[in-house]
Amino acid sequence: MRKPIIGGNWKMNRGTPNESREMLESLIPLLEEIYNVDIVIAAPFTVLTNAYEILKNTNIKLGAQNMYFEDKGAYTGEISPKFLKEIGVEYVILGHSERRDIFKESDALINKKLKKALSVNLNPIVCIGEHLEEREAGKTKEVIKYQINETFKDLTKEEMLKIVIAYEPIWAIGTGITATPEQAEEIHIFIREKLRNKFEMETADLIRIQYGGSIKPSNAEDLFNKKNIDGGLVGGASLQADSLFQIIKAANNSFK
Ligand code: 13P
Repeated sequence: MRKPIIGGNWKMNRGTPNESREMLESLIPLLEEIYNVDIVIAAPFTVLTNAYEILKNTNIKLGAQNMYFEDKGAYTGEISPKFLKEIGVEYVILGHSERRDIFKESDALINKKLKKALSVNLNPIVCIGEHLEEREAGKTKEVIKYQINETFKDLTKEEMLKIVIAYEPIWAIGTGITATPEQAEEIHIFIREKLRNKFEMETADLIRIQYGGSIKPSNAEDLFNKKNIDGGLVGGASLQADSLFQIIKAANNSFK
């Protein structure tokens, strides 16, 4: 059994203490009856400390959206995983397509960050996914296979169990075009098959694979009812308490 996990990726939004407080204080009371979902809010660095204070006695975990692969040193503008850990961050998103595309992060870099995150006991949410041109050229599975091989290179089964994978087709991110539940499930099954080849069935079957890309209250239930979709990584709809709550509720109901 895999417990679904919903991540709210705020991206570069809700970055001041007041706006994040307002959102979180509206969300917390809505979640009192939610037991079957792990919930993570990945907030901008500027509000992590405030958010920790607000979330510390709730069922919402705190996440960051990026980190560097060294503990400290002359890396102007970078953030140490140890700093994150010390202020109460439990999850970190790595390899988001916006990091890969805009900031030119490679699979090799993401692999280094991933190993570092694991070494300080941060739980990584690792994003993979194909561009529209790759899908249209029939290369989706080839791209996903490459990303799995390179991003998860030299990891042990024990380490893999601490990772959440987010399949985020890039053409569905922020576009309003969601992958259909069937399209998403097809790739989730493919990812799990590759994980089975690489890490054995028992391990592969325990790894959670989220879907991400234009998840909304109106499409969440159909996505989460698919057998291999273990929750979602939510961008735009995670900025309002009510829409995020509806999505969390759909994940909660999908856990049987
Ligand atoms: P949207 O939900 O806004 O499409 O963003 C998805 C995403 O990138 C989550 O990481």
